[in-house]
Amino acid sequence: KYGTPLYVYNEHVLRTRCREMKNLVSYENFRVNYSAKANTNLSILRILRDEGLFVDAMSPGEIAIELRAGFGPSDILYICNNVSEDEMLFAIKSGVLTSVDSLSQLERYGRLNRGGRVAVRINPGIGAGHHAKVITAGKDTKFGIGPDSIDDIKTILGRYDLRLAGLNQHIGSFFLTAGAYCEAASFLLSLAAEFPEIEFVDFGGGFGIPYRRREGERPLDLDVLGKGLQQIIDAWVRASGKKITVKIEPGRFIVAESGVLLGQVHSIKKNGDRKYVGTDIGFNVLARPVMYDAYHDIEIYGSSAGKAGDAEPVTVVGNICETGDIIARDRVLPRVEEGDIIGVLDAGAYGMVMSSNYNCRLRPAEVLIDLNGGDRPIRKREELDDLVRHFPE
Ligand code: LLP
Repeated sequence: KYGTPLYVYNEHVLRTRCREMKNLVSYENFRVNYSAKANTNLSILRILRDEGLFVDAMSPGEIAIELRAGFGPSDILYICNNVSEDEMLFAIKSGVLTSVDSLSQLERYGRLNRGGRVAVRINPGIGAGHHAKVITAGKDTKFGIGPDSIDDIKTILGRYDLRLAGLNQHIGSFFLTAGAYCEAASFLLSLAAEFPEIEFVDFGGGFGIPYRRREGERPLDLDVLGKGLQQIIDAWVRASGKKITVKIEPGRFIVAESGVLLGQVHSIKKNGDRKYVGTDIGFNVLARPVMYDAYHDIEIYGSSAGKAGDAEPVTVVGNICETGDIIARDRVLPRVEEGDIIGVLDAGAYGMVMSSNYNCRLRPAEVLIDLNGGDRPIRKREELDDLVRHFPE
């Protein structure tokens, strides 16, 4: 009905994930800040707002789209990295709180907004993640201000009469055990004690999902994570007597499992010993496998698909002019034929948002399956005109 490639999202799964995050701990000042970089579709943002989530933003573009989705300025935390004065001013004028992630950016913020509120991103020295490219704390990353700079932070806050509203961190993306996250959360709270006026701490995101579900991968144990966080928060509140606001910042966990990327098989061939299944899902549509060797489960929908005994290893590729344009290498799949539809599962996070026009390919459309099982388009497929509209005549 909508053609391929196509991102399809399930509203029920989205809302379920929101509630799981909101119920992670029972603490009146607990907030879930959805990390919008995972998926910024306007209709999806509206659903998440309806579920009572707040949001982070990484750019003026994300701030603008979140405001459009109905989030108020105070619902948004702008976590900026290496930004210009103009970008900081955009957030200040929009009434959105900014978190800076270097001492020089804190100075810059102070010059622009003397007497204002600001947050600071801490690098707790503990990192985690599925790939070196997405571990965002520890010595080998560009992010945050080290805990050894607390005195410098205080000096700059004083110089510009700034009030420290909060401390945030993000140790990295994708982990399926709670240990490092809880350790880092505890550490951040210990730093919060240094700032008597502080309103919130934000422990960051990174909660993984079982991309290898078919191989038996277990999901993140929310009970263990929740209990760990609960203990840390309760202990801090008891010791300090202050009901500080605690935020978490999941992106992937909220949206990944709600999304399936549908493509079509256009060619099947053998080269050497490999059988290639050629689809319209190039890495312009889903960059994760090429960028991080990321694994996504795959399903085949077709008249002969799934017949027992027909499974064989195939390499599923896209239509981009690069050898590395591979969605799945040597994957054992049920029998697949030209014309079949292929579903790449768990594609709701970092899928559409990382798509591009490489090879002058058009970005796909997006569809929502609503709570009644009805489908509706939530983003138009690009057209050839979209490729040329920014060139001068
Ligand atoms: N907070 C901050 C400051 C972040 O930078 C991120 C993600 C998150 C929260 C949310 O992390 P999550 O809960 O989604 O793991 N493109 C990569 C992931 C990059 C994540 C970047 N930062 C991927 O496809 O795996």
